Amino acid sequence: MGFYSKFKWKWLLAVAVCSLSLSTLFSLPATAEDGGALYDTFYDIGQGNRYFERQCSRCHGFDAKGNDETGAPDLTGRLRRASTEVGIFNIIREGVPGTAMLPVDADLPDAKVWQLVAYIGSLRYDPSTVELDGNADAGVALFRGKGDCDSCHMVRGQGGRLGPDLSRVGENATPDELMTSMTNPHDDVDPRWWTLRITGRDGEPRTGFRMSEDSFSVRIMDNDSNLWSYPKNEVQSMDRIEQSTMPSYDQTMSESELDDLVAFLFSLRREEN
Ligand code: HEC
Ligand code: HEC
Repeated sequence: MGFYSKFKWKWLLAVAVCSLSLSTLFSLPATAEDGGALYDTFYDIGQGNRYFERQCSRCHGFDAKGNDETGAPDLTGRLRRASTEVGIFNIIREGVPGTAMLPVDADLPDAKVWQLVAYIGSLRYDPSTVELDGNADAGVALFRGKGDCDSCHMVRGQGGRLGPDLSRVGENATPDELMTSMTNPHDDVDPRWWTLRITGRDGEPRTGFRMSEDSFSVRIMDNDSNLWSYPKNEVQSMDRIEQSTMPSYDQTMSESELDDLVAFLFSLRREEN
């Protein structure tokens, strides 16, 4: 889950900003503002999905795409009555007066409602509802070919371990964020991917991911997957590099190639079973 925390942060920020401006309008209780950020993991989305299938799908449909007969709208695109997580929370809690959209059971804990919000939020980035310029098939070819992305990234068990597993990167990242990951990788690097440059007794500096560290020793793995272990008392210098080891593709890929890669990355999500 740590791999996704970068996106989660932006999401948190967005939620914080939205709820700030909203709370002045509706003066919501503080808990309502925090909840969306707390219940936003894959687990929560899954729980929300299950609850939705039981309680909401008879009107909104199993795919949440709405149903003309019941008049329940499609929830996978832009919503008519809410544009923020707090707004969706309130609709579920309070219903839409005068319509078939009734409030949920008053005993239902807030956490459950937030899981529904997380599930509905996850639908908005369903690849089938988002229009992208690129072509995902061309993107795969670039990923495995020219971009050599798979030397560092694993997708569905194939590829390297020098970067995060991207098998489900499309679930938590917007197309814009995926683009930024490629053109400006040093923006906002998760500490998991920081590197250490260490010079030991042999005087040769080496750089690698920190694999383990205790009071007596530190171990790093370099780009060729070699492990180097340094007793602490032999370390001459140690610097932490908070930048990404991923190269920027701003110059080496054309705009349309980057679009193709975004289309491919955005399509990466949990496999249907
Ligand atoms: C009995 C049918 C019915 C059930 C069950 C139902 N809904 Fe609805 N829902 C509606 C209708 C009808 C509307 C449209 C109300 C309106 O705006 O006129 C609606 C609207 C909504 C909206 C606002 C959509 C928008 O575009 O703003 C959300 C969000 C929503 N429902 C979520 C849920 C969730 C989550 C559940 C399950 C807990 C649920 N609904 C259960 C009928 C239903
Ligand atoms: C030398 C290894 C390396 C190569 C080659 C590489 N990456 Fe990365 N990539 C990383 C590392 C390390 C990170 C995590 C640090 C960061 O956010 O930049 C990362 C992060 C990412 C992320 C953000 C994932 C997340 O969950 O935060 C995406 C998307 C991505 N890379 C796509 C690509 C694509 C597409 C290519 C090929 C065009 C590529 N990478 C090539 C090492 C690499």
